[in-house]
Amino acid sequence: MVGRTEYSSVPTAVDLENNTNQKKYTVNREPGGLVIPKSLCALMAIGALLLAILVGLLVFFFVVPRCSQASDTRPSDLRVGDDGLPSISDEISLTKIDSPSLELDERLPRSLEPTHYRIQVRPFFSNLTFDGTVTITMHVKEQTDQIIFNVKDIEIDKQSVKVRSVKSNTPLGISRQDYVPGERYKIVLDSSLDKNIMYTLELTYVGHLNNHLQGFYRSQYDENNSVKYLASTQFSPTDARRAFPCFDEPSFKANFSLIVGRPSNMSSLANMPLIKSDSDWDYYETTPKMSPYLVAFVVSNLQAYGSSDKLIKVWTRETLRIQARYAAEFAPKVLHYFENYFNIAFPLPKIDIVAIPDFGYNAMENWGLITFRESSLLYNTDEPDVDTKRTIATILSHELGHQWFGNLVTPKWWNDLWLKEGFATYLQYLGADFAEPSWNIKEEFIFSETARAFALDALQSSRPISYEVKNSRQIRQTFDELSYAKGASVVRMMNNFLGEDAFKTGLINYLRKYEYSNGDRDDLFGALTEVAHRKGALEPSVTVKDVMDSWTKQPGFPVITAIRDPANKKLILSQKRFLFTDNHNDSSTWWVPVSVTTNGGNFETQPTVWLKNEPMVTINLNTSLWYLININQTGYYIVNYDEANWRSLTRHLMSLPTIIRAQLISDSMDLARANLLDYDIPLKLVQHMALRDKFIMFVPTNVAFKKLEFLSDMLSATPAFGLFESFVSTIFRDTYRTVNSDLDYGSENYLHQKIRKMVLKWACRKTDSECAITSHRMFRDWMEYARTIPPNIRDVVYCTAIRQGSEAEWRFAFNRYLNTSSVSEKNVLLDALGCTTQKWLLSRYLDNLVRNHSSIRIQDADRVFKSVCDNNIASTLAFDFLRTNWDKLISFYGEGFNIISKMVKSLPRFMNTEYQLSELVRFRNQVRHNLGTASQAFDSAIERVRGNVAWMKKNYHNVEKWLIDNKEHFHA
Ligand SMILES: *[C@@H]1O[C@H](CO)[C@@H](O)[C@H](O)[C@H]1NC(C)=O
Ligand SMILES: *[C@@H]1O[C@H](CO)[C@@H](O)[C@H](O)[C@H]1NC(C)=O
Ligand SMILES: *[C@@H]1O[C@H](CO)[C@@H](O)[C@H](O)[C@H]1NC(C)=O
Ligand SMILES: [Zn+2]
Repeated sequence: MVGRTEYSSVPTAVDLENNTNQKKYTVNREPGGLVIPKSLCALMAIGALLLAILVGLLVFFFVVPRCSQASDTRPSDLRVGDDGLPSISDEISLTKIDSPSLELDERLPRSLEPTHYRIQVRPFFSNLTFDGTVTITMHVKEQTDQIIFNVKDIEIDKQSVKVRSVKSNTPLGISRQDYVPGERYKIVLDSSLDKNIMYTLELTYVGHLNNHLQGFYRSQYDENNSVKYLASTQFSPTDARRAFPCFDEPSFKANFSLIVGRPSNMSSLANMPLIKSDSDWDYYETTPKMSPYLVAFVVSNLQAYGSSDKLIKVWTRETLRIQARYAAEFAPKVLHYFENYFNIAFPLPKIDIVAIPDFGYNAMENWGLITFRESSLLYNTDEPDVDTKRTIATILSHELGHQWFGNLVTPKWWNDLWLKEGFATYLQYLGADFAEPSWNIKEEFIFSETARAFALDALQSSRPISYEVKNSRQIRQTFDELSYAKGASVVRMMNNFLGEDAFKTGLINYLRKYEYSNGDRDDLFGALTEVAHRKGALEPSVTVKDVMDSWTKQPGFPVITAIRDPANKKLILSQKRFLFTDNHNDSSTWWVPVSVTTNGGNFETQPTVWLKNEPMVTINLNTSLWYLININQTGYYIVNYDEANWRSLTRHLMSLPTIIRAQLISDSMDLARANLLDYDIPLKLVQHMALRDKFIMFVPTNVAFKKLEFLSDMLSATPAFGLFESFVSTIFRDTYRTVNSDLDYGSENYLHQKIRKMVLKWACRKTDSECAITSHRMFRDWMEYARTIPPNIRDVVYCTAIRQGSEAEWRFAFNRYLNTSSVSEKNVLLDALGCTTQKWLLSRYLDNLVRNHSSIRIQDADRVFKSVCDNNIASTLAFDFLRTNWDKLISFYGEGFNIISKMVKSLPRFMNTEYQLSELVRFRNQVRHNLGTASQAFDSAIERVRGNVAWMKKNYHNVEKWLIDNKEHFHA
């Protein structure tokens, strides 16, 4: 599954999943800013055009403006409520029996084991319910007189409940039955079920075809001026129980036979191929053994787009069908790549890939029936945009990777979520790299995964990725960036220290041994150790478990400090947990694989030495100009060097591979942020690179911008901000010029487009900068003369123009949001609408999140909120909104997709004063009784703000002094 909040300015796969990949720029100007009258604006546009020609600022014209496509004049994206159907506030849950404590253990007893489900289910769009009948065949492992299984928001017809031995037709007597806390239902029988005998449980029930995007839910869209409905499922992690009573834990694998009812003018899809249909019902083949959370079915009028492999089809609404082409071309390539990689054929007879108009996550890997958010799957080739393409490629690749890692072999329990999500996230880079080799996407890993994991894992509030969970609320909270990004990073580390051969052979052995069943991390580590020892990839005295337990069972990661002892040709390495807030007494240690090189050496990433869970180790090191540790950041840790080495690395920066440049900038910025290094080192590193990087390398430049962004956020409301801006714009002046004048950057080339986007985003942040004015003009040309904006720079241009502009720009964008048929453009617009400096417009925008007849889909709520939080004049407004509307938001958005958690996590970006910290803490205390699944989000938000406050105290004056001291070197 993919569904995490991103913060990188480059949409990464995981972010993609969360669909918040489009980054916003820091807004740095006073409220009530410039409002340009239309006439003046036209004049300015002409002026700017002339200016642009004069200064050779031609970039925007390289792409010939196309006329706006036949504009879509449908009224609006009709939402629930406009058609007389129940809207959110009318939703009632059919069974409301408990509000479990966060600590309640909801695990089911192990005495019964389901082996087969026959599920007959039928949705009714007329009254938004569904009827179901389920027959569960169970094997008795321990004698018991109770049957306990999961249900949620479904109403069981008590009369219909029948328990029989498979050998006899006579139902057993039932003495009691009822809902019990923890989303469970309990049947107590008059007599015991006998060990090793098979029984069946049969019952009928009614469920609610909800609009919470969980369980069996409804979705809708406009087509030909009428509203079309569809019903789809999202069961992961614990919502299969909303669609049918079941033993809803991943280790209760069973075979599923589905019979799906539908209106006669609609069709259905399920995990397996259709066997037969009649006018109302579709009968599906029985699945192999699988976990309940991977079951899926869809009832709709969606249409198929075939692929080169007749087993793979992509389904969309009819009007968007052509946009399925990229996914349909990509999916077979990557599926076959993974078949080769694992040397195991895809186990099911088909895969349907479906774009669902309302979808909570970015995608879900249901076996044989992968469901997607539309914007994560559909690509409009008329509007080529590299970020959208990257999103689709990585998410598809992630979900296809799951078909083995997650579906064929499933983690025993949710405490090892990283075991499937970390692997799928790692595999997504391999798959995408195979299908799109020119993207060099593997190089992006260190910032789109590892750096992202560091940002969370360097907080005291972090948690281990193997983490005990006992109930749905806790389970939902583990679906956070850490499980994905740290999970993927430690998988990459494992791949590296074991070497390709031992790693792959071990994985394959693990998959073979546990196929159609479940494994836990120890099972995987055992399989890898066996191969590693046989192939000599690991010393006989060391196991993969020894090493990996230190990374998965404790939070955080180390900083390795290296000190040279040149007299004795020694290098002393020590480890300590890295935290942004220093002065801590954490004595954790890790098994750290260490690769070392010096000038003249090679850049081999396999470790030559280990810190074996010990605080310190001494190694030999010949005299050299510089030395480097953790080549390509394949180890999940950062490195601090002696000052002489930092200086030497700075001088030789441009002779090092690009990943290493990025790594040095990233590590040194984090070290400085934690007060372990003077800011002089990272700022000089960035300056050195920016001034010499003629070919503008994407990865290190992106890392530099990412890291500078934190400084910019902290300084944005301080007197030093002007100097900081002048520093950045000076060192990147040539970069900006190159991007604007070199024709290559207007081409379709992936890396060139990524670079152009990244650089323009930075250049346009500044109000009334050349870049900002040009963007605004382009937007006005679009408004007035229907001159379209190249899709690749849409996100920069829309946000900038809405910030520079006034109500007119905002309204235009909002109408465009309502009317565009491009799902990726809708996302860009949602991000941009938060960029305005007009507070009343921002309030109006946020108000959509608590209105019943909102034109914004539930799935996009956190995106809207984040877009306002990312606007620094508006972050207080967003905070007030969340405070005022907390209870309402909790009941609107429920707990399903951590929408509320994501909102809380969006808050801290610009908060760095004691006052803001105390307000945030006060807010948490106020809503303590109604935290939903946001308790961890609050912990980490509070810690981030606390860290920001501490940073300001310790570093503000240092950075300001650095800027003043170095002024003559960068002053324009
Ligand atoms: C919903 O409508 C269907 C068909 O019209 C009907 O069979 C079913 O009983 C209704 N369900 C409820 C709960 O009213
Ligand atoms: C929409 O209307 C057009 C023209 O009337 C028709 O060709 C098309 O099939 C319709 N599409 C759908 C999805 O009903
Ligand atoms: C390290 O990264 C570089 C890219 O900067 C890549 O070319 C090289 O192959 C990587 N090294 C290893 C051993 O993977
Ligand atoms: Zn996943």
